[in-house]
Amino acid sequence: MLDIRFEKTTAPKEIPDEDNPLVFGTIFTDHMFLMDYEEGKGWHDARVVPYGPLSLEPSAMVFHYGQEMFEGLKAYKTEDGRILLFRPDKNIERANRTNERLCMPEIPEEDFLAALKAVVKTDEEWIPTKEGTSLYIRPFLIATDPFLGVRPSNTYTFIIILSPVGAYYPEGLDPVKIWIEDEYVRAVKGGIGEAKTGGNYVASMKAQVKAHEAGYSQVLWLDGVERRYIEEVGAMNIFFKIDGKIITPQLNGSILPGVTRDSVIQLCKDWGIPVEERKITIDEIYEAHKNGILEEVFGTGTAAVISPVGQLRWENHIMKVQDGGIGELSQKMYDTITGIQLGKIEDTKNWTVEV
Ligand code: COI
Repeated sequence: MLDIRFEKTTAPKEIPDEDNPLVFGTIFTDHMFLMDYEEGKGWHDARVVPYGPLSLEPSAMVFHYGQEMFEGLKAYKTEDGRILLFRPDKNIERANRTNERLCMPEIPEEDFLAALKAVVKTDEEWIPTKEGTSLYIRPFLIATDPFLGVRPSNTYTFIIILSPVGAYYPEGLDPVKIWIEDEYVRAVKGGIGEAKTGGNYVASMKAQVKAHEAGYSQVLWLDGVERRYIEEVGAMNIFFKIDGKIITPQLNGSILPGVTRDSVIQLCKDWGIPVEERKITIDEIYEAHKNGILEEVFGTGTAAVISPVGQLRWENHIMKVQDGGIGELSQKMYDTITGIQLGKIEDTKNWTVEV
């Protein structure tokens, strides 16, 4: 069992009240979890301490070569006061796949889960309960060797911080407008596109700025070689409902394997809705739109949950998705997933884990 030292804050912050809009990623709780790693010594010094600045050498490798993994998951408080995590095992598995890809040490699954539970329990008062809110959990691992040569670090720190959040997009559940990028690319097969690491997100920023300036919320990436196949959106995976069928890009090495993506696929199968995980070209989407059979488009992600898409822009084509409102399936998916997360809908798949 992970031996965790606790040091409680002596200066607790004010917990945001119900009326606070909880703008995504702007407010942090009173505590954080830290644990260090050193080659030969392994993981040690697990601790929950007051949230605050870290002290790192300016030469720490994470600053120079981006050797870091991050994850995102959420905690919810049920009406009867239980605290639930949603599929933390999937995040832990993915974190360790990222660690492996980036030559960083594996974090033992049971220790990772114990750390999540310890820090969430410590700051449980911070879990918001208003409709559409949750406690976002951000675990991350950084390389800390003070060294400027290029090789994997020998020392690391694993950190978990917590942030009470509302909707990821200011639009909330209103459909977002998405820009299909045709100049820059995010990732290629064999690269790090399927790893959850900062490098993929900084690679996306140039196009995101361009899209924002044109009035679009997010960028939809095409494959990095032929620039024809749909991959993912900056902070979400993407689903299309075309002529009654659900289609999502198959995982191919450059797409992030999303936990919400997997949950949506499983739910569609349970509901008898045909789901295809396959290559999809942008031309196919454009044709479906022209033929009036592009019925719904939605993004999926931990932060975004289910985010309906109301408009897509590709080259000089503007594709409005039906009437621009939230589709029936997107709404049902949102209600079901958040219902399970909040303990309002029976969790027949054992997706939730009590803290
Ligand atoms: C998440 O959905 O948790 C993510 O990590 C996306 C993030 C870039 C906000």
